[in-house]
Amino acid sequence: MNANIVLLAGDGVGPEVTAAAKRTLRRSAEMWGHDFTFQHHLVGGAALDNAGDPLPEKTLAACKGADAVFLGAVGGPKWDGNPPHLRPEKGLLRLRKELGVYANLRPVRPHPAMADHSPVKNDRIGGTDIMVVRELTGGVYFGQPRRREKLDDVTRAIDTVEYTDHEIERVVSLAFKIAQARGSHVTSVDKANVMETSRLWREVATSVGEKNPDVRLDHMLVDAAAMRLILTPSFFDVIVTENMFGDILTDEAGVLTGSLGMLPSASIGDRRPGLFEPVHGSAPDIAGSGKANPAGAILSAAMLLRHGLELEQEAAAIEQAVERAITSGARTEDLGGKLSTHEMTDRIL
Ligand code: IPM
Ligand code: MG
Repeated sequence: MNANIVLLAGDGVGPEVTAAAKRTLRRSAEMWGHDFTFQHHLVGGAALDNAGDPLPEKTLAACKGADAVFLGAVGGPKWDGNPPHLRPEKGLLRLRKELGVYANLRPVRPHPAMADHSPVKNDRIGGTDIMVVRELTGGVYFGQPRRREKLDDVTRAIDTVEYTDHEIERVVSLAFKIAQARGSHVTSVDKANVMETSRLWREVATSVGEKNPDVRLDHMLVDAAAMRLILTPSFFDVIVTENMFGDILTDEAGVLTGSLGMLPSASIGDRRPGLFEPVHGSAPDIAGSGKANPAGAILSAAMLLRHGLELEQEAAAIEQAVERAITSGARTEDLGGKLSTHEMTDRIL
């Protein structure tokens, strides 16, 4: 297969883990006889510093023309004081919207060899295997109006949570499709006791459920879901939820594995390219130190092959390689070891 892959290294540990993902994709292409070409482009703070825009037109055009896009991470303290439209995160949000990647897949499967590293007791974590499907291009992240206003001596800030039935339907339907290939159980998470968007979410999820009677559907309020993730994570199979609840719950679910550094993600829509990124973010505290765990990025490269290019065997081979490295004791600092990003990547490769 020929594929044109855009790499957006971004900020913080982004460039270090993107290099690891690129080495992995290169190795995969060699092993399986594919021809991958790589183009590097700027995004986030790096793009702000260089071009004054967190998502320069050149980057966006390259992404739109690509078969798949890999992103390292965006953001950092340097740009924290910037106005909203000049924040690194704005570049990522706009890219998600422009690419139409409305579903963000975040698998959570703690490795048995890592069980002692989880903040949750061993007997609770056993059997946990969750796929979180987070809605990614709607909700409070994009709703209008959003602004600040000053009335006399009062400052008021407004954000808007907004969902259409169509936006809910497509992501919930995808979650059902994913569940059919796994444990046939969907938990739809909302806050229907308080929010109108959540009541619509629940109605639409219920009607998608009626069309898919082979899948067990339950509804859970987000506060209860946050608790349940810690108490009995093995209860869940597929979780589907709106953008902000998904943002929060996936950080929580992520640490169940022992380290957020292990967690990959795939953002997909109805057409190519998908966007693939580790969940850990820019980690400014360890940026440039060579300590970042490359596993989240390498597993995101695997998701790029599976969901972005439909190369299932190639993806599974990478996942097995990460599994074997962990089983054989390869550990970066976040996992209680001493390996550098490069050494850990070597072990996996
Ligand atoms: C994530 C991140 C982003 C989000 C930030 C960087 C805008 O936290 O991908 O989970 O909130 O979506
Ligand atoms: Mg997040």
